[in-house]
Amino acid sequence: MRGGPGPHDVPVTRRSEVVQIDPTDPPPEPIRRAAAVLRAGGLVAFPTETVYGLGADGLNEGAVEKIFQAKGRPGDNPLILHIAELSELAPLILGEPNAAAKALMAAHWPGPLTMIFPKSALVPDRATAGLPTVAIRMPSHPVARELIRLAGTPIAAPSANRSGRPSPTTAADVLEDMDGRIPLILDGGQCEVGLESTVVDLTGGVPRVLRPGFVTAAEIKSAAGGSEIDPAVLAPLSEGEAPRSPGMKYRHYAPMGEVTAFRGPGAVGEIARRYDQADNALILALEENVPRYGNRCVLSLGRDESAMASTLFRALREADRLKAEHIFCECVEPEGVGLAVMNRLLRAAAFNVIDT
Ligand code: TXA
Ligand code: MG
Repeated sequence: MRGGPGPHDVPVTRRSEVVQIDPTDPPPEPIRRAAAVLRAGGLVAFPTETVYGLGADGLNEGAVEKIFQAKGRPGDNPLILHIAELSELAPLILGEPNAAAKALMAAHWPGPLTMIFPKSALVPDRATAGLPTVAIRMPSHPVARELIRLAGTPIAAPSANRSGRPSPTTAADVLEDMDGRIPLILDGGQCEVGLESTVVDLTGGVPRVLRPGFVTAAEIKSAAGGSEIDPAVLAPLSEGEAPRSPGMKYRHYAPMGEVTAFRGPGAVGEIARRYDQADNALILALEENVPRYGNRCVLSLGRDESAMASTLFRALREADRLKAEHIFCECVEPEGVGLAVMNRLLRAAAFNVIDT
C-alpha cells in the first residue's frame, strides 16, 4: 500500500528537534535530555558507528511498540538491544555465553557486531517478535554509549529509517524519514561504517553470519574458531522457506527508483548502453570507473568495497533527491566487507542483477 497513513502509522504533527553533538567530545546536557525521553517511554534517534538508531527503552513493552509504529516495521521483525557494559549482558540472556561468544566479545565489542543468544524472561516478547532468542550489540560510538549509560536500561534500536528505505547515515537522513514521528534526534554527524552491524547467531554449534557487516566472516572465524554464512545472505529466499533472521525476507534499502546491479567485466559498457536508452537514469560507480561514463550522471561510490560500504546508503538516498527513476550500480566481489556491500545492494535491487 502506498500513500496515506495506515492504521498503525503515527500521525505526523510537529517537527522533530535535531540537536547537534560533537561525537568526539559529547556534551552531557543533550544526552541527559535524550536519556530522560527514553526513560519516560519515548523514542530518540541517535548516532552509532554503523548507522543511526531509533531507540526506546528495550525493557518497556509500550516503548518498544512505538518503534514498530514510527518505522512502519512488520511486527515479526525483532530488534537489537544495545548495551554499554559487559555486566549488562547476563540479565538479558539465558545461561552463560559459550566460548565462541566470549571470544567474539573480547575481539569485537564494543563495535559493529551483534550476537544472538537465548533470551531471558526480562526481555519483552515484543522486542524479539516472539522469538526465544535476543540480538545484543555493544556499540563503540561515544554518544550511543553515553546514552545507554544515562538511560540506565538496554536500548532497543533498529536503524532509524522508515521500514524498507535505505538506512540513515546522517541526521538529515533520519529527519527525511522520521520528521514529526519522534521528538528528538541527536546529530553526531556522518556514521563511520555506513552499513548496519554484522549479525551472528551463537545459538547453534558454529557461529553463523545472518547479516554480513564491517566485521567480516573471516574475522569471526579467526576470533571464534569457525564461522558459517547463512545462504540467504546473497540469495533470495525461495517460496515458503523460513528465514533464520526475519529481516531477511523483506524488501530492503530501496530508494524510489528501480535499482539494477551489474556484475562482471562488461559492467561499465552495459551500464552506459542502458543509461543511454533510459530516462532519468543515474549511475553508481567505483571511483576509477567514473571517467569512463563521460558526461553521464554518475555518483562515485569511492575507491573500494570499504569506501562503498560507507557511501552506498548515502548514494541510494541521493538518488531519490535527484529523482532518479533508474539506478544502475556497479558491484564488488562478495568477499570481506564486499559481502556486506553486496548483501545490501542485492536487496536494494530486489535481486535484479545483470551478469555481463
Ligand atoms: O548496526 C546496527 O545493527 C543498527 C544500529 C542502530 O545498531 N541496527 C540495526 O537494526 O540495523 P535493524 O533492526 O535494522 O536490524 C536488525 C536485524 C534484522 O535483520 C533482524 O531480523 C535481526 O537483526 N534480528 C534481530 N533479532 C534477531 C533474532 N533474535 N534472531 C535473528 N535475527 C534477529
Ligand atoms: Mg534496518
